[in-house]
Amino acid sequence: MTTSTITHVVVPGTFDPVTYGHLDVIRRTRKLFPRVTVAVAASVNKHGRGTTFTLEERVEMIREAITDEGLPNDIEVASFTGLLVNFCKELGAGGVVKGLRAMTDFEYELQQADLNSHLAPEIESIFVMSNPEYGYVSSSIVREIASMGSDVSILVPSNVDARLREHYVQR
Ligand code: PNS
Repeated sequence: MTTSTITHVVVPGTFDPVTYGHLDVIRRTRKLFPRVTVAVAASVNKHGRGTTFTLEERVEMIREAITDEGLPNDIEVASFTGLLVNFCKELGAGGVVKGLRAMTDFEYELQQADLNSHLAPEIESIFVMSNPEYGYVSSSIVREIASMGSDVSILVPSNVDARLREHYVQR
């Protein structure tokens, strides 16, 4: 059993698109660990459907938001395909950090954490409680509101707000 201290963690997600809730988790994770990689999953979301934004767009939006919102500029953003635990092993990261909003997140996250632990017991699953201010914010809620032409500027950083407007105007 390894007892070495974890210094590098991954914050994984679909980030379709990144919200203030995600950025809060990323910011707080960076307070806890010296090296943080935001890992953007390639193609499907948790409901098995394709994403609204391409992988490149989702990565770019996170990078822009990290700069614009003043998060530490040593936070890395990378995309991955395949299993998350394999990506962690490639990076040499010792843990996965996710935000928990409500009990509804818990069952889904527990299932994923159990599966990841089965696949790679050496990788820790770590959870941070969402800031209550963002407890109701999710990418799917953001997309739904934006698709109906309503304002989401209090839920997402301004670069994402602009992309959503572009996306839904073009349709
Ligand atoms: O933000 P999300 O959509 O809840 O993120 C889910 C994500 C991307 C972290 C999860 O689906 C994932 O880890 N996908 C990679 C494939 C994988 O490793 N599956 C096994 C664990 S569920």
